[in-house]
Order: sequence, then C-alpha cells, then structure tokens
Amino acid sequence: MIILGIETTCDETGAAILQMKNGRITILSNVVASSAPLQAKYGGVIPEQAAREQIRSIIPVIDAAISNFKFQISNLNAIAVSQGPGLIGSLLVGVETAKTLSLIWKKPLIPVNHLIGHFYANWIERESSVKSQESSEKKSRLSTLATSHLPQFPCLGLLVSGGHTDLVLFTNHGKYKYLGGTRDDAAGECFDKCARLLGLPYPGGPEISKLAEKGKDIYKLPRPMINDGWDFSFSGLKTAVASTFKESKPTLKVECNLAASIEAAIVDVLVIKTIRAAQKYKVEQIIVAGGVAANEKLVRKLKVQSEKLKVKLHNPPPNLCTDNAAMIAAAAFFQKPIADPLKLQADPNLSLAS
Ligand SMILES: Nc1ncnc2c1ncn2[C@@H]1O[C@H](COP(=O)(O)OP(=O)(O)OP(=O)(O)O)[C@@H](O)[C@H]1O
Ligand SMILES: [Mg+2]
Repeated sequence: MIILGIETTCDETGAAILQMKNGRITILSNVVASSAPLQAKYGGVIPEQAAREQIRSIIPVIDAAISNFKFQISNLNAIAVSQGPGLIGSLLVGVETAKTLSLIWKKPLIPVNHLIGHFYANWIERESSVKSQESSEKKSRLSTLATSHLPQFPCLGLLVSGGHTDLVLFTNHGKYKYLGGTRDDAAGECFDKCARLLGLPYPGGPEISKLAEKGKDIYKLPRPMINDGWDFSFSGLKTAVASTFKESKPTLKVECNLAASIEAAIVDVLVIKTIRAAQKYKVEQIIVAGGVAANEKLVRKLKVQSEKLKVKLHNPPPNLCTDNAAMIAAAAFFQKPIADPLKLQADPNLSLAS
C-alpha cells in the first residue's frame, strides 16, 4: 500500500510518499519546505504570512515528492492530509489541495489528526527516515527483520510540540485514553518564549539547547506541577525566567547558565511525569513525539529513566520530530478513508482530549 501524505498545519509545507509492506512502513520520498526563517524575522509565526507561504509552496512540494521518486500516480492507494489542529489559513491550503487531488486522481482521502500523526513518526522505519532511497542490499536486510522493534500496545505517549504537551495512554491504533495536557503554554512554546526573552531567534528550542551546552543549571527555576496529576503548566516557568533575566547582568555566561536552567527545568517536568505515568499504568513502552522530542537532553534522560523501569523508549529521528508529511501518511495506514472526500473540513480545534 502506498500513501501520499500532505501536511500544512503551521509554517511547514510537507508532502511525502510512504509504503507499507509486510507491516513495515518506509519513506519513498519526503519533502518539507519551511517558512520558519521568514517567520523568525518577526519572532514567531504570523498566521496570514504562514498561509501565504503554504499557498506558494504546496504544489512545488507535492510535485517534488512525486518526481523525487519517479512515481506513477496509478500506484498510489490513498491521499492523507492533516485535518487539524493548526492555523486555519494554513490548514485550508492542505485540506483543499488534498480534496482536489483525491477528486482528480480518484483516490480515497484519509483525514489525520496532526497530533496523532506526530506519534506515528515512531512507526516509520529508522533507515528509511534518514535516507529515502535505500540500496537493494539494505532493503533485503530490512525485510528480514521482524516488526517487533516498532511500538507495541499498550504504550504511553508523550507529545511535546510547539502548541501541545499531552500525555496519552494508547491501547491500540485509534484507541487511547487522554491523561492530561498543558493548562497554558506548551513545552515548545515555553522554549520559544524563553528564547525570545533572551533575545534568541525563533524557533527557540534548538537555540536554548545550543547555549545550554556551555552553561550550568545554577538558577534552580521552578518545576511547575511536577508532583501534581497528569496536567502541565509552563507559563510560571517563563515568568520566573523573565524576572531572573531582568535581575542579572546580560553576559554570555548568564545567558548560557539561564539556558541550561530552562532546559533542565522543562526536561525534569517532562521526564518525571512521563515516568510516573508509565509506572502507574504499568506500560512496557513509551513513545515520545513532537518538535521538543528532538531535544537530546530530554531523550537521554527519558532513556536512562525508562531503562531503570525496563520500559522501552521510542523516539523519532530529529527530522521526523518537527512537522512533516511522512508522519501523516504513516498514521493513515491505520485509518479508514472518509466516505465523501468533498465533505472534509479543516478543523483548527481538533485535540486529543475530546
Ligand atoms: N532541539 C530542540 N529542543 C527543544 N525544543 C525544540 C528542539 N527542536 C525543536 N524544538 C521546538 O519544537 C517546536 C516545534 O515543534 P513542532 O513542529 O512539533 O510544533 P508545531 O507543529 O508548531 O506544534 P503542534 O504540533 O502542537 O501544532 C518549537 O517550539 C521548537 O522550539
Ligand atoms: Mg506539529
């Protein structure tokens, strides 16, 4: 089965072609165009501008995904698209394009919740996500491996993206219990806002991480709600960073130490709550997803703590943590198409909670 995925929820335009064979999902082609460098000039995403960039990029990106692989449309089994959540102007570009292609090419259309899509980056074969075109030798080696390295149910999901921080208990494909989420800022948003306070460019997560390498966690920032249920709250941390920064001399050393303290506080909250949830729900597997899952310290700490519990941690490679269409196509292999593609509506408020 071969699916074309389309992703346009925010400032990334993605198109990817994925194949599922013997239960293994591989990337045949994966193209992402980002308007983040343009958004960076304004310190964050401007919805109107992001939508305009989506319109500019959508056809060239889909075209590139198809021609990279010298792909015949007749081989395509379905089209998958992020239905939401996201910025409505950006979402409409992907959803309306997917509906049009579904009609013209006469292919089924599979709407995917973007947040569920993030988790499915963990179902994509590692080798294929790094290099789309594999040698035939490598392909045959891959096909001899079992699929037991893929996430197994039940598993605990931690989504840490720019707009969401959610803990979810998955019992099967399409079956999950929402445990909790952020009451205010998401982890990625906290990284971005703290970076802005320090005068660092958008997106702030990788920038804070880079500075943190040269700093020490000396500021002992608060770890909000660390011992409190499954919800998260990061806005107090951002306020603490703002007042600490205001009271300090703005030297590089201060910035590096503050960056290390911000990263340590966010990582501590995420790791401690995730591990506690894994214990409480007695899962043997954890899947982490979203842009912040590209954070090395988070992954390293989660790995150490899960190994202590004999729990297996799955984390996507960095290029599949942030928005991409490969994860959308991957999720679609486990879903059904919509009966009438023309009835599909973009939904900016889709969530995992309802
Ligand atoms: N290495 C990193 N360390 C920490 N944060 C990171 C890193 N790399 C990316 N991020 C953060 O990830 C976020 C972007 O992730 P993602 O693309 O998943 O979010 P989004 O799609 O905008 O949000 P959502 O999926 O909730 O709609 C940004 O906030 C960015 O700062
Ligand atoms: Mg996203």
